[in-house]
Amino acid sequence: MGESWVPQPVTTFSSVLLWAGLLCLAPAVKSNGPPKALLTLEPPWVNVLREDNVTLKCEGLQTPGHDSTEWFHNGSPISINQESYTIPALNLKDSGEYQCRTEQTSLSNPVRLQVTSDWLLLQVESLVFMEGDSTMLRCHSWKSKPLYKVTYYHNDKALKYGYHYFDYIIPQVNLTHSGSYYCAGQMGRVLHTSKSVMITVQEGNRHIIRGLTIILAQVVVIALIAAVAVYYYKRHRKTVSISEEIKKKEVENPVSYSLLKYTDTYKEEECGCPSYQNHL
Ligand SMILES: *[C@@H]1O[C@H](CO)[C@@H](O)[C@H](O)[C@H]1NC(C)=O
Ligand SMILES: *[C@@H]1O[C@H](CO)[C@@H](O)[C@H](O)[C@H]1NC(C)=O
Repeated sequence: MGESWVPQPVTTFSSVLLWAGLLCLAPAVKSNGPPKALLTLEPPWVNVLREDNVTLKCEGLQTPGHDSTEWFHNGSPISINQESYTIPALNLKDSGEYQCRTEQTSLSNPVRLQVTSDWLLLQVESLVFMEGDSTMLRCHSWKSKPLYKVTYYHNDKALKYGYHYFDYIIPQVNLTHSGSYYCAGQMGRVLHTSKSVMITVQEGNRHIIRGLTIILAQVVVIALIAAVAVYYYKRHRKTVSISEEIKKKEVENPVSYSLLKYTDTYKEEECGCPSYQNHL
């Protein structure tokens, strides 16, 4: 009997859940701007030596036979319209940030190319990796001159030695791979050592956040269904029990029926619930 106040808090609870659900789902709704172009390097190294060659490629939707790619170096447009752009014999002034876009894509994320002048360079595909990525390190000599007795170092500790030139492969990057890397090798009769390159490995929290959002959305949906079910169950039970009781009391004792009616009204006033609930 005293349960006549239940439906309203349940409804409030449902709407809170509904809003929570909408807020959770909002970031998943994609902005409807054009997709970003993807700028890639070939070979993939973000650090190169003077006189190396590199080809920049812009991946994005293209109308065939329509060279409409735009290229930017440190924010300034370059007078190149092809979707791939080769820089032969790189110079120090070619260092900096590159971006591209096509007719149907927005500006790519910047790719930073660093050109240095040295005998030896430890080349990397990126300075920042996510846990689980796979990558390769290359001990690269100036003008790709023959290189022997190569050693790769991580935080000053030798990782691997080879008489012949080789690449150092990391099949699955984890947090322990952060730190400084360099290599050493013999060119002619001279042993050269590269400068250090700092690599940062980030925890894969993008995956964690996405996973949590999905779980939260599922919880919200389940809670919403449960709330609706509870609401209808209570309403149904109330209606049934009241009508049964009324029927019973009506038959047995008309006096207690009027008493019942009085108690109901009293309870309603006490809780301040809207009177339409009487008609539920
Ligand atoms: C760059 O390309 C030119 C021409 O194809 C080639 O002669 C030269 O060896 C290349 N440079 C390097 C470092 O591979
Ligand atoms: C990280 O990877 C190395 C191999 O590259 C492996 O020996 C090491 O156990 C890994 N560490 C963790 C914490 O997974």
